[in-house]
Amino acid sequence: MARPDPHSVTDDTQPVTRRLELDAVVDFAARRLGCTTTLHFEAPTPDAGPLDLDTRGLEVTAATDLTGQALRWELLTPDAILGTPLRLHLPKGASGVRLESRTAPDASALQWLEPSQTHGGQRPYLFSQCQAIHARSVLPCQDTPARRVSYRASLTVPSKLVAVMAAAPLRHEAKGERTTFHFEMPQPIPPYLLAFAVGDLASRDLSPRSRVWSEPGLLEQSAWEFADVERHLTAAEALFGPYDWERFDLLVMPPSFPYGGMENPRLTFLTPTLLAGDRSLVNVVAHELAHSWTGNLVTNLNAEHFWLNEGFTVYAERRILEALEGADLAALHAALGRNDLDAAVTRFMAAGTPALTKLRTQLAGVDPDEAFSVVPYEKGALLLKALEVAAGREAFDRLLKSWLGTHRFGSVTTDDFLAHFSKAAPGLLERVRALEWIDGPGVPSDAPRPTSRRLEAVKALAGTVPTAEATKGWTALDWQLFLEWSPHTLSARELETLDERFGFSRSTNAEVHVGWLLLALQCGFDEVLPQVEAFVLRVGRMKYLKPLYTALQRKPATRALATKLFEQSRPRLHPIARAVIAGLLAKPR
Ligand code: BES
Ligand code: ZN
Repeated sequence: MARPDPHSVTDDTQPVTRRLELDAVVDFAARRLGCTTTLHFEAPTPDAGPLDLDTRGLEVTAATDLTGQALRWELLTPDAILGTPLRLHLPKGASGVRLESRTAPDASALQWLEPSQTHGGQRPYLFSQCQAIHARSVLPCQDTPARRVSYRASLTVPSKLVAVMAAAPLRHEAKGERTTFHFEMPQPIPPYLLAFAVGDLASRDLSPRSRVWSEPGLLEQSAWEFADVERHLTAAEALFGPYDWERFDLLVMPPSFPYGGMENPRLTFLTPTLLAGDRSLVNVVAHELAHSWTGNLVTNLNAEHFWLNEGFTVYAERRILEALEGADLAALHAALGRNDLDAAVTRFMAAGTPALTKLRTQLAGVDPDEAFSVVPYEKGALLLKALEVAAGREAFDRLLKSWLGTHRFGSVTTDDFLAHFSKAAPGLLERVRALEWIDGPGVPSDAPRPTSRRLEAVKALAGTVPTAEATKGWTALDWQLFLEWSPHTLSARELETLDERFGFSRSTNAEVHVGWLLLALQCGFDEVLPQVEAFVLRVGRMKYLKPLYTALQRKPATRALATKLFEQSRPRLHPIARAVIAGLLAKPR
């Protein structure tokens, strides 16, 4: 037995799933999906033997081979992180299996929203979030990026609702109260990219290959915010090669969506907190688009090599932004990233977990949602920047393209990265001491530093209460940096003046708003508590919830408030966010 992925029971000596068929009936009353799942193998089984699949919370009711012959099967001992393995006993010559199952009402991938939790307030909503290891709570599968599958799927939903998937829509059929939507995903994807949403959804075209979906009441705003998407696509193709997924559609999610964005192929999911009204947060769109190459086309083999997904994508995101808006702006993003990275490294070192600051990690027995941090994102991107500086941009761009070309539709490890780069650019990895980055803790002292005139200007004013004149022309990014660089010793008077002058409390840019809330909390400025409360009850994006809860948790005076807010918002949080925030609040301080 050999397992390619510590987070899956997938076994190298067993059949390889190559194609998947899913037929699901969505039952809002019971909060369950009734699923028929068909898995097709790469080749018929040469001998009789077991097949282990990942499941979590699934109620399995039947298993047959593709001829309809019943199979013997059993659920093995549940594991707190991995879920409950399903073992099927296959005959010789089986070319696939068909399974009947029902999801649990608290399936970790799914959030079932009451009408009151949606923008329109009239209809229920359902969405999935399968990364990192939640596809198994929807259907039995080899839930590892080491096994790519193409698929076809159907979703049967109440006729008033629309179903969308991260796949090509084929057709839909109404049968009275219910409508069945059909989809096809011809390109092989890792199972964590399986994604769907069901709700009162409408769409508007943004370009011949991109449209935005949202609830009808948010469509106008969404179409305006993301109107530039085609420019992003064109810039990305110039940098990384042709776009392989035909369409790049966007879906604006309900506020409880636990991430900023999720790169579901053909249909990126986005938090509605990006709707700033001034297009100031479209870097998230650039990020998810970049995943079309780095992550979706060339995929980490398992979560221990997550930096190959996210580090490459942050690097690629900044290249897209640089192409569209210039090097100065990209430098501001890099500076914000460096701040986040330094803070995370300090946190892990203080917590006695320096191993989590390495790029290549060991995650057996570790829940990938718990291990999640900015390290693979920002340290990964910084290593690539160091390689770019050492190789020169043109040479590095060729390297990047050859990496993507060699491994397209493949699953890769850090060793694959090392092998490819040392062969394609002899001596380069040694020149930046790449292994220190990869297997060593912290950030090497010779890491490139972002520089720009704008950065210097912001730094010079951080810690002061500047005049409106001195900050003329500042964008949300400048303000974010300003807030992060301000010392935690500002007085109530200074904070009040800052807010009066620059309107952080009313900022529609969530990064600026949360930056303000965090600074105020850290300065002990309790006047912001009602704003913190309102934000935490409204938004489910973990990037904001984690630092806000941590700040509340840190001070005895606001600890009870943290618990109260969590209890209050808990039923409205996505199961993933619920687990992560519960873990955060339970940690010894
Ligand atoms: N793929 C991630 C989100 C994710 C990571 C979900 C791990 C589940 C497990 C996505 O591409 C992402 O990184 N989103 C960021 C965007 C940011 C870096 C621009 C986010 O949500 O904040
Ligand atoms: Zn990402």
